[in-house]
Amino acid sequence: MGIGATAGVAAVGGIALTAQASSESSDTSGGSGASSSDALVFDTDAYTTLTTTITDADGAEHDVEYRFYKAITYVSKPVDETYQSLNVSVPVKIDGTAVDATDAPILFANSVGGYMPSSVADATGVGGGGTTGMPGGGAASSSASPSASASSGSGSGTGSGSGEVASGGNGMVNGQGEMVSLPKLALAAGYVVVEPGARGRTLKNSSGEYYGVAPAAIVDLKAAVRYVRFNKGRIPGNVDRIVSSGTSAGGALSSLLGASGDSPLYDKYLKAIGAADASDAIFATGAWCPITDLEHADGAYEWNWGSNATSSGSQVDQTVSKELRSQFAEYQASLRLRGLGGFGALTARNYDAYLVEQYMEPSATKYLAALSDADRTSYLAANTFITWSGGKAAFSWADFLTHVGARKKSTPAFDAFDLSAGENNLFGKGTTQARHFTLYSLRHESGSSARLDSDLPETLRLMNPMPFLVEKANPKRTKHWWIRLGTKDSDTSHTVSANLAAAANGLGDEVSHLYYWDEGHGANSDPGDFIKWIARISGHKAKRK
Ligand code: DHB
Repeated sequence: MGIGATAGVAAVGGIALTAQASSESSDTSGGSGASSSDALVFDTDAYTTLTTTITDADGAEHDVEYRFYKAITYVSKPVDETYQSLNVSVPVKIDGTAVDATDAPILFANSVGGYMPSSVADATGVGGGGTTGMPGGGAASSSASPSASASSGSGSGTGSGSGEVASGGNGMVNGQGEMVSLPKLALAAGYVVVEPGARGRTLKNSSGEYYGVAPAAIVDLKAAVRYVRFNKGRIPGNVDRIVSSGTSAGGALSSLLGASGDSPLYDKYLKAIGAADASDAIFATGAWCPITDLEHADGAYEWNWGSNATSSGSQVDQTVSKELRSQFAEYQASLRLRGLGGFGALTARNYDAYLVEQYMEPSATKYLAALSDADRTSYLAANTFITWSGGKAAFSWADFLTHVGARKKSTPAFDAFDLSAGENNLFGKGTTQARHFTLYSLRHESGSSARLDSDLPETLRLMNPMPFLVEKANPKRTKHWWIRLGTKDSDTSHTVSANLAAAANGLGDEVSHLYYWDEGHGANSDPGDFIKWIARISGHKAKRK
């Protein structure tokens, strides 16, 4: 069990100021005359001491006293400090015992949802990223749906910070529908928590320019990692044990952060915002339902959900669906990935069997095994497509697809013909709010000789973790991967996460990837296991003072 909704609220309400802090960090002036490295020195005294009660994943309550460093601008030439700032929480006492977080792992928890702007500037304590003014972020399930948020993105920009702030990111839900805050769980485990904000796709300045479109969010997260590393010894925690987390678009960015560590491709962007001169490689990546590999996601989506009707009961255009599906076959072959568990080459022909054997059946098995006999019997009676034998669930891919039901998106799912998807806005540029980013959708609308804007190949490259794993493996990538999503999540194709896992696994990285049975988008059913995984991979032992 994670932090319950009521427990979460009580914990926030229970935060008390136990020590008068000095003023906010004075290092937020970025670019105001001081040299950039001076501006980026973390002020170790600029904290407030807060206390809160945190319910851990097993349901036990912990009294936590921590130092809260708020809204520190992490670059010396910020475009918008509301987003380019981070919060740091350092545990001081847990259940009355002093803890030493000097060498603790650092959870680097982004709260990006929907590729929207995310800010921690108004947070009143740990876990407060995401929706401004709503501690703990919103429920992940309320994350911007791409088409809904795309239209909001076109709207009301009036100067800096005009975009909406998405809920989501840290606001995951557990199997009981309760909110989960990884930052709070990590703090209660004695880890240091860094919560970065980042620019997002809807931000528009007074000249009408979109300044949070790709690659702004990943550049910001990298700059925030660099800030933490640059301040080694000033920010408590082990900068060689930075573990990133994020959900959905935040999960995509978390995987990208892990895959692209120290890649020189981002240098000019980092330089432009005055990022600290330090490594941005991270130790481990936690990614829940990552919405990534966007330029290939339309084909993958049709391969996975092409025959499922939409929620209105209608089939999508099957001609388009089939064309996209054949693109997936070609792409999948080009990746030359091998499945986990000795499965062999992954292709569009055998990926259904792979997903069933490697992920879906084990997920259902785990779910069913945990039920009481009576509950299992009634679940199986209501879901006769599952054969339960010898303590194992078995079913076909076709029946699994029927069980999931309506597909969430129409076709193409990401590069919408009418430019209405959030991703069209993500790949906007300058004063152009939304653009096509695949040749297929562009040519469908503009004719067979249309060409993608010349900047797009590079921008797409900067947003996709896969080339860092398959084309030429990035030696500075994270070597530890925690990937999770619900079996009923049709925000993207199941092959997207599975390809990420297969690519990392193929490089010899440690990969923990599983699907939560019958859970949807934004699920996090095993947050306690993630916290324990961090301790294991980082070799962390809680230190008492
Ligand atoms: C998110 C969901 C989507 O379906 C998508 O296309 C992009 C982002 C999200 O919840 O972050």
